[in-house]
Amino acid sequence: MKKNFIVKILLLLFLFNNFSFALNNDGIGLDDALSGLLLREKSIIQAEKSLDNATKKAVKDVNRPAYHFTPPANWMNDINGPIYYNGYYHIFYQHNPYNDFWQHMHWGHAKSPDLIHWQHLPIALWPSYDKGELHCFSGCTIFDAKGIPMIFYTKVTYPEPQDESPFLWPLIAHEQWAATPEDNDLILWQKHPANPIMTLETHGGPPFEPNWRDPFIFQEMGRTFMLLGANIDDRATVPIYEAKNNNLLKWEYKGILYEEPRANTFFFECPNFFKLGDKWYLIYSAHKPVEYYSGKFDIDNFKFIPDKKGLIDYSSNFYASNIMKDKDRLLLYGWIKDFKENMGWNGAMIIPRNITKNISGQLITYPVEAAKALRKTQLGAYKFKADNKNYILDKAIGKNLEIEITFKNIKSNHFGITVFRDKENQSGLTISIHNNIFIVGDIEVPLQHNAAFEEKTLNIYLDNSVTEVFLNKGEYAITKVYYPSENGSGLLIFSHKGSVDTDVSVWKLGL
Ligand code: FRU
Repeated sequence: MKKNFIVKILLLLFLFNNFSFALNNDGIGLDDALSGLLLREKSIIQAEKSLDNATKKAVKDVNRPAYHFTPPANWMNDINGPIYYNGYYHIFYQHNPYNDFWQHMHWGHAKSPDLIHWQHLPIALWPSYDKGELHCFSGCTIFDAKGIPMIFYTKVTYPEPQDESPFLWPLIAHEQWAATPEDNDLILWQKHPANPIMTLETHGGPPFEPNWRDPFIFQEMGRTFMLLGANIDDRATVPIYEAKNNNLLKWEYKGILYEEPRANTFFFECPNFFKLGDKWYLIYSAHKPVEYYSGKFDIDNFKFIPDKKGLIDYSSNFYASNIMKDKDRLLLYGWIKDFKENMGWNGAMIIPRNITKNISGQLITYPVEAAKALRKTQLGAYKFKADNKNYILDKAIGKNLEIEITFKNIKSNHFGITVFRDKENQSGLTISIHNNIFIVGDIEVPLQHNAAFEEKTLNIYLDNSVTEVFLNKGEYAITKVYYPSENGSGLLIFSHKGSVDTDVSVWKLGL
């Protein structure tokens, strides 16, 4: 870990233009060197130093996921601006490098050749206190006219001394800002000199409330649009803006793409909007499990007309989705939340998923093919008729596992598997189908049609405190934060009141 920190700092110093100052002074300490650096460099190096200290605590936590992406230490929330550039998938994320709770929003950064093996990179965006910035909130990346990625994000303004009470902060209007990279690895970012790109005073639309955030940019028919989350007159709204030209620095208000009474939806955080086949989809995070609408996009009137509603993931442990178009596939990212506090880290990312749809237009989300690279050894393959009994998979033990089960010939109305099973204290997380209800721990999802006796597959990823469960290859997805007991590493299959033919494979997973 120390090595990681030193490598990151050397990388940063190499990139910082004024590195010569630090090098030319023999025996100079980090603090001395910092005093001569610019505010940007200082902010980033201080944050990296804090992360390095916190890592010592974070790595001791046995419940920290082993192969799901987590920050090097301390807090993360939303995945921001995923992009493929120069041979790598890049993710940015809401990050507090100073503590393992939400505060001081920076943009953390990592890259991966395959969406599974991630390398931590230095912090990309930091709150510029000198520019009156308190937080860098969520946003997106988009290629500029020259094919270079550009970040758009929400700047949260530092309160004036008279407004310092946190209760007044929601009254301080958000602004939309841009940042541009200085190198091909997207390591050093500079806030754009044209900032603010948009403010509530100049955006040309109605007087939205100060919470006006989470830019999402998409293109259609050669035009570039930006969506935001906003509120006005007791309505949660998604305003739409169009770029006036290809430098993306001037935007025009076009109207409200979609709105709902605030009683239904408190606020559309992190809206994502895309076309899949002949349908458009609006995904939003509204302080509950992440939902979506399918429908039509009337580009002439800047309106989204929904027809059906669905859930991306049925758990509130999954939040603040983001999407990315990658050649012929569409990728889903999301934040896994609600971990135990005070462990030196908090927050993880789902295994990135492909988004597809079924014939009725329902979205299907399922881990990318590259996740198979996590399979280290196969721990067992079992085939049996489960019949009113418990079956312990004695060779398949562990807390970092992938389990694939096919249930055929279903003559039972209650069957499933207990994972993270501890025989002694009878604990574990039970994943089952009971009277046509799909159950994962305390989450219950009635299955849409009467599919009680149809063949079913379960794919389960266990990673210490994180479990991702997919029924029928992503028709239903549930991400669950569950803390197993120390010895909770067993697997048990059961079927009550009838039999079910069961086919199980288990792999030990690792990076
Ligand atoms: C969603 C969210 C966003 C905001 C960010 C702040 O989790 O609340 O709306 O930009 O997190 O960290």
